[in-house]
This record gives sequence, C-alpha cells and structure tokens, in this order.
Amino acid sequence: MTPLALGLFLFAAADGPAPLTAPQDHKRLLDLLGIDKLRPGPSGNPKAPNAANSDESKATPFPTLPDPLVFKDGSKVAAAADWPRRRAEIVEDFDREVYGRVPKETPKVTWSVTSTEKQTVGAVPAVVKKLVGRVDNSAYPAVSVDIQLTLTLPAAAGGPVPVILEFGFAFPGGNGPKGPPGGSGPGWQEQVLAKGWGAAVLSPYSVQADTGGMAGRDGKYQGLTTGIIGLCNKGQPRKPDDWGALRAWAWGASRALDYFETDPAVDARRVGVEGLSRFGKAAAVAMAYDPRFAVGFIGSSGAGGLKLHRRHFGEQVENVAGTGEYHWMAGNYLKYAGPLTAADLPVDAHELVALCAPRPVFISVGSLAVEGTWIDAKGNFLAGVGAGPVYELLGKKGLGTSEFPPQETALVAGEVAFRQHAGGHTTVPNWPAFLAFAERHLR
Ligand code: GCU
Repeated sequence: MTPLALGLFLFAAADGPAPLTAPQDHKRLLDLLGIDKLRPGPSGNPKAPNAANSDESKATPFPTLPDPLVFKDGSKVAAAADWPRRRAEIVEDFDREVYGRVPKETPKVTWSVTSTEKQTVGAVPAVVKKLVGRVDNSAYPAVSVDIQLTLTLPAAAGGPVPVILEFGFAFPGGNGPKGPPGGSGPGWQEQVLAKGWGAAVLSPYSVQADTGGMAGRDGKYQGLTTGIIGLCNKGQPRKPDDWGALRAWAWGASRALDYFETDPAVDARRVGVEGLSRFGKAAAVAMAYDPRFAVGFIGSSGAGGLKLHRRHFGEQVENVAGTGEYHWMAGNYLKYAGPLTAADLPVDAHELVALCAPRPVFISVGSLAVEGTWIDAKGNFLAGVGAGPVYELLGKKGLGTSEFPPQETALVAGEVAFRQHAGGHTTVPNWPAFLAFAERHLR
C-alpha cells in the first residue's frame, strides 16, 4: 500500500468509507498493477486534433478475434454439450479482466411496495407500483443501499404478464448524465403496456454511483467505496478483480428480477432488459450473466458494451480505462490501456453476446450522421456477427450475414437481431422493431 492509500485506509477504518477521489483511486489501482501511466484515449470531438478514428479503412488493424468456440487448451468446441464448459472459461475471463467479480455472497435484499397508484400511460390505464429493495447493511452500517424500482402494469392485465425492465437515466440522485432527450419516458412504456406487458424502470444510481469517487449532489461522498460495491467491501477500495459499476448495475437488475419472481402479476420467465449507452453496457452485462433474462435490447452500448474492442474506430479501451469511466470496469481492465493493448484482451464483445446464447438479443444503434461515430455502429454489429457460431452450435440462428445492413433495415430473422435507426443517441426509434422481435420470442 502506498503511504497515501494507507493514510486513507486508516482514516476510513475510523470514519466510514474511504473517501478517495476518482483520480486517487485510479492511481491506487495503477500502483497495485505496477503501471506507471496509461496511454490517453482519443477525443470524442470530431474536430479535435486527436479525434477518434472515424475512417472505416483504418478501423481493423487487428487480424482476428478470439474464437468463442475454441477452448483455452486449443481444442475445439465440437458440440452443444461442450458449450457450458467453454462458456465458463469466457465468464472467468470477463470476470477477471473486464467487468470484475461479484462477491461470492452479496447481502440480502428485502423488497417492499412503497406506493401503488392508478395512472394513464398514454392511452393505457395502468397501475404504477413504486418499490424499494433495502439491502441488508448490518455487516457495514456506514453504507446503505436502497434500490429504487417502479413497475407499471396494464390495469386490464388478467394474469402474469411479461415485463421489460429499463435501466433508467431519469431517476434523481445520481451524478451521471441526465439522459438523452426522449431516451426514456412514457413513449416506450406506452408501447409496452399497449401489448399488455409491464414496463419497469430500475434506478442504477441507487445501486452504485456513476463515479470512481466524488461529492454527490447532496455533498456526501460517493464512489466505489460506497454503494453495493462499497458495502460488500466494508468501505475499502477494490481489489483489481473486484466488480465495477456495470456489474453492480446488472446485479441490481437481477435483484429486481428476484422481486418479479415473487410478484404474481409478473411472468418472471418472460422478462426483458433494456438500456442505452452506459446502461446499454449494463443491459448487455445483465443479459449475459443472468440466464433468467429472456430477451435483451442493447442500445448504443459502445466501448465496454457490445462494440468490439478490436476496432480502431470511435471510443477506445484507453477512454474507458481513464479516470472518468474506469469505475464501470474491473481494475485489471486498466492494463489494456498500457502496457497491453485491446488486442491482448482474452475476450471481446462478440463473446459477451455469446454469453447470452441461446436467448434473443437485439442490438440497436443510431445513425452515423446523427448519433456520430463514437459508439462505433459497425463494431456493435460485428459483435453480433461474431456470436453467430455459438447460437448456431446451440441450434439457433445468428444475424445471418456479415454485411452491415442499410440504415433502418431490421435483421430480425434469428436470435441475434440488429437495427440501425435514423436517429441519434437513443433507443426510441427501435422500440417497435424490438417489441415485434421480443413478442415472437416470448410467445
Ligand atoms: C460517454 C462514454 C460512453 C458512454 C456514454 C453514455 O460518451 O464515452 O462510453 O456510453 O458516455 O453513457 O452516455
């Protein structure tokens, strides 16, 4: 431990969670990893001199992707019966190097309904339940975690109905971005309810703050030593393979699903998960790790989500490993921004899609002209392509092509679906195509 970390440790031991700022915690991880400094990422501003690459002809310096159907010992995955063993290898790599490990035991969550209200969502009469999932913090009372969830069901629902769970940008109390205009809200919920399904929104920031460490809006410290990660670590900073915010948010979604399993109004075998951008990443992680999610709608998830790391286009591993985003990931992920590179990652995003197999996944991106190039639409598409062989091994269908389709062409014939809509950084224009896809699979 460096003197700084030791000082913070002693302070924390007496006074609650270690109040490290993101740069301090980032530096602490680099010290643990024996790394001096990381390569800086390119700029997201296309006019900057160090703008991220947006020239497709320069996007693929990496000749190959890791093969999801080859075991670590070099032998081939020949039959569906071999897949669980290979899947476990891929999970281990994602756990250790990319998203971090969820502790073996996490504290119990007790759900309660705090209000039930009749509302009309668009034209659909509905019942809105607000819920809180209180996480047992008796092991470390200095950190408390109350998971916020709303569940909106059609008033006319006669029996258990499918539910689509969104990671909501709109919840108060976080210090992350407010969310894109039209990125959530009654539009999608109305469409879901009109099908007779339920719409739920989870507040990711009630599970884990969106920062490596800073003062929150209320002036109180929040970071990786608070929230569910901090609670499990009793206020101490992370080990390099501990979970980051993406897995914490996904863990929260799994706890919401635990609740759905106890609610007779919900058909918990038919719950889908959706998110945009950083919450698209979280939705992909939730879907990949928790086989109870029946379908995924992964919106513009980009780097750290369903964009291949092995693409020199848009956001890069160096960006995600920086002080503003590293908290999403495991500490070990920082290594790939120096001295290692994206090509050294033992896994890539196509294998995150593969972890979802054989369940249906819809990959959504916006228009290059409107959304821009940062999220790398083609890199997201290619992750879907790369998962195809795993779906086929399991008797399902992938995207059916490796040609990037024209905008507004839905590739929805298999279990891996893709559509590039004509709008910006949002999932809104793709809801109708996703719901038609989901309906076919959830029937
Ligand atoms: C930034 C970040 C992306 C992320 C996005 C968001 O652009 O670089 O990785 O997806 O914010 O969540 O809005």
